[in-house]
Amino acid sequence: MPPEPRITTLPTQVSLDKQAVYDDAHGVGSGHSGVTAQQSSLSTHDERMLRWVFSAYTVTATFWLLFATAVGVLMAYKFGAPDFARGEWLTFGRLRPIHTNATFYGWASLALVGLAYYVAARSSRTRLYSPKLAWIGLVLFNVAAVAGTIALDLGYNNGNLEYREWPGPIRLIFLGALLVTAWNLIGTVARRSTHDIYLSNWYTVGGVLWTCIIAIVATLPWYQYGLGQVSVSGFYMHNAVGMWFTPLALGIFYYALPKLLNRPIYSYALGVFAFWTNLVFYPIIGAHHFLFSPLPWWLQTTAIVFSVAMLVPVWGGSANFLLTMRGRMRDMTHSYPLMFIFVGVIGYLIGSTQGTFEAFRSLQEVWHMTNFTVGHSHLTMYGFVTFSIWGGLYVLLPLGTGKEPGPLGLALHFWMAVVGSFIYIVSLSVGGTLQGLDWKHGLPFIQSVADMQSYWVWRGVGGSLMFLSHVVFGWNVWRMTYGAGTKATPDDSNPAARAGT
Ligand code: HEM
Ligand code: HEM
Repeated sequence: MPPEPRITTLPTQVSLDKQAVYDDAHGVGSGHSGVTAQQSSLSTHDERMLRWVFSAYTVTATFWLLFATAVGVLMAYKFGAPDFARGEWLTFGRLRPIHTNATFYGWASLALVGLAYYVAARSSRTRLYSPKLAWIGLVLFNVAAVAGTIALDLGYNNGNLEYREWPGPIRLIFLGALLVTAWNLIGTVARRSTHDIYLSNWYTVGGVLWTCIIAIVATLPWYQYGLGQVSVSGFYMHNAVGMWFTPLALGIFYYALPKLLNRPIYSYALGVFAFWTNLVFYPIIGAHHFLFSPLPWWLQTTAIVFSVAMLVPVWGGSANFLLTMRGRMRDMTHSYPLMFIFVGVIGYLIGSTQGTFEAFRSLQEVWHMTNFTVGHSHLTMYGFVTFSIWGGLYVLLPLGTGKEPGPLGLALHFWMAVVGSFIYIVSLSVGGTLQGLDWKHGLPFIQSVADMQSYWVWRGVGGSLMFLSHVVFGWNVWRMTYGAGTKATPDDSNPAARAGT
């Protein structure tokens, strides 16, 4: 029996109209399951199209996760045994951008766009604006990622511009994929049959629009030299994570969490407030990547001030999610999808708060350029973004395809990923701090390498566990899409009550 739906949002915080949107979007208080109510609003053909698009984006994204993290594990082993896997195609300098670009643009981007399409169509109670455009986008994203990977491995790259290492023409293909996606998402939301635009779509449409702007700014050549290039690099790097992955992942929370718990989000107003403050504060903080550089001091200080201001949307957003979950923590003992989302919310809260501290000059003195930053990258891109994607997929993919993974697959995936990433992040955070202190105390560089050795071995152990969890995730995705997964109960709108029991 699904638990009794409880409307917990204060009536003063939302208009009755918005409450109806929650009810539409989540089946809350409708007396029906959300699944049945929503599916009936689309024709069988539209349902099939949406399912195909969602499944295809998820399956290709999963291939990229497996490939990119196999490369990640190989690199991790090289820190312990530098002579392992030699040859020019396997040098660290080539593998590193292959790993970062494939995780960013192959894995996280494709998975989030697939989820965003599903959420846009479902919460707007309409069909996809154009399944054809979704396919074109899928092909462009994948062509860019394959061509980019091959180019990097052959030694063709765009220099040291982080996360922009793919050669220019390939980045144009990626930009094309983004534009197509923006058009299709906006088109879908524009044809909604609900009155309001549901909060999730503010985040996902906002994210894709901002990213088109950011990608264009990062592509135009005229100001990309000297210090101009450094500022654009900071702008691009931080906005890639802050205005692309972050809003898309948050948009998924705003849809999947109410769906899972069968109750509306704690506060719509707080969600809107976090959206606008995120938009105002995030774009100005890129220069915190280049503190103590020749960039103007005032620009660096501005970046630090706004890094502190980021606590507002981060704490506001996290509180909204945690308050939506309040009183339901016990559900976590029998719902892996909820546990994935919970880890994602905590990853967002802790990772971003850590980022604020990292931006202070006094702490940058120790942590800048060290492995501590790599720990922060994985706490956020893995602990937050990747766990959010997994949570979203485990909640929504069974609703789309009618197939669920088995409980053992969910358990193995969750525990290996949590334990593995915990080892990875803690070892690099501790090791990175020691590394920075060694540098600060003026010890010979080789001393810091020797001091890091055991921490790098632990990172290899954690990374191997993470990779194994991805193999299990691949199996789960197969069961939820083209394989023979357990049949999802069609009239049960509360997967928290069943998945992973
Ligand atoms: C309030 C939010 C955040 C702040 C203030 C912040 C701050 C920082 C700072 C200061 C650095 C530079 C470290 C250095 O170079 O020494 C950094 C790096 C990084 N951050 Fe964050 N962070 C935040 C949230 C996030 C989120 C949510 C993500 C991912 C979705 C993320 C991903 C990264 C990555 C990937 C890097 C490494 C960039 C590189 O390659 O140099 N951060 N962050
Ligand atoms: C099995 C899992 C993984 C392993 C073993 C792994 C390993 C590594 C290694 C060895 C590096 C190079 C660090 C350095 O230059 O010192 C790295 C960098 C990076 N990885 Fe991963 N990784 C994994 C998963 C992921 C995932 C899923 C993402 C994103 C969704 C990701 C994003 C990044 C980023 C952004 C960097 C650059 C870090 C920085 O410059 O601060 N990794 N990873």
